[in-house]
Amino acid sequence: MYFTGFTCVSCQRVYRPDQDLLLCPACDNLLEAQYDLARLGRDVDRDALARRPATVWRFAELLPVLDPGKIVTLGEGGTPLLRSDRLARECGVRELWIKTDAANPTGSLKDRSITVSATKALEFGYGVLSCDSTGNKASSTAAYAARAGLRSVVFCPYETPLPKAAQAVFFGAELIRVRSHYSAINAMYRQLIRSGRVRWYDCGTDNPFRYEGKKTYAYEIAQDLGWRAPDHVLHPIAGGMSLVKTWKGFNEMRALGWVDRVPRMAGVQAQVCAPIVEAWERAETVVKGIEKRPSVASALGVADPGLLGTRCLETIRASGGAAAGVTDDEILNAVRALGREGLFVEPSGAVTLAGLPRLVRSGHIDREASVVCVVTGSGFKDFEAIARMVSIPERAVTTYDEMVAAATGLSSEGTPR
Ligand SMILES: Cc1ncc(COP(=O)(O)O)c(C=O)c1O
Ligand SMILES: [Zn+2]
Repeated sequence: MYFTGFTCVSCQRVYRPDQDLLLCPACDNLLEAQYDLARLGRDVDRDALARRPATVWRFAELLPVLDPGKIVTLGEGGTPLLRSDRLARECGVRELWIKTDAANPTGSLKDRSITVSATKALEFGYGVLSCDSTGNKASSTAAYAARAGLRSVVFCPYETPLPKAAQAVFFGAELIRVRSHYSAINAMYRQLIRSGRVRWYDCGTDNPFRYEGKKTYAYEIAQDLGWRAPDHVLHPIAGGMSLVKTWKGFNEMRALGWVDRVPRMAGVQAQVCAPIVEAWERAETVVKGIEKRPSVASALGVADPGLLGTRCLETIRASGGAAAGVTDDEILNAVRALGREGLFVEPSGAVTLAGLPRLVRSGHIDREASVVCVVTGSGFKDFEAIARMVSIPERAVTTYDEMVAAATGLSSEGTPR
């Protein structure tokens, strides 16, 4: 075991690896997991990792678990990294890779982190997993609770896309919908967990174990690129911790000598709900909450990301990266562009591809750069949004002759004449 405990990012207090923690007990700030990287570097051969099954747990030594016998897995992670020269041309960069996290077991990035929190729930002896969520975290929490034989309770905005809510209920969650927006729900949910009125394992925004799962993006991307970091990684931002942890992963690999440099991190939000982008554009040091406005990227609708947002902003800056807000039209065009590559992505998951041309135009990303866009959720997760983008032809045939007539009525490209 190489996990040595947590350090508070603010007061720098240190905590033992076996403690059941959320925020820093002394100052309520975020905790960051630490590892004995010097020893890990001596013991673990990066190339030997490639012979293990391609899941998040390929990197188990770099995750904060004490009992590998309790790992709760659905085979998450190990998602394809696909090169697209066509999308690279369209976005104006030399080399573009799409990290397709829609391919996770429940269809979103959340499985990377919930697999870790479900495992910790078993280690700590909890019977119930809980979270607040814009939808994806809820369905993932429910799935991993089912897999672990635990119960789950999830709190979501009333308008959560039906597929996400249905998936959570299908996996057996108690779904409690709240007539409010995510950040207001988050504040109430945190109060509930802290009140001690329930003894649930919180898989929500305060869980420092869960967040470590997110850094596995970095390890997978570097491994798939032949232990090379790209120039830029773009990630959709809701709370912001996926971006923070991806960068942590690259920094750990540099400390281990597995890569020789780290990428610049770029975060993308929907323009109408972009508190982190706004703070970055105004060169502020703290992210302030904004008025929530709806966008097609419903999963990213976090109007007040609080501590996480500020940490994300700091990470973007420290990496020399950038942030961009995108319009609904740009997001839907990115969904279509991914569709032309055969990729089925929910609007929230496609914002990175929408943001890339903007960041190229503004000069934050060089045309000669190598870029990874993380796409984070399946089209099935927000299916109504996708269904609105197409019209199913009225045309239908019954007999063979009608089929021939319909088929020969198509142009040589396969479309109706
Ligand atoms: C599809 C999708 N992409 C990206 C994110 C962003 O995650 P984070 O809160 O780590 O910024 C979320 C979070 O809900 C999401 O559902
Ligand atoms: Zn502290």
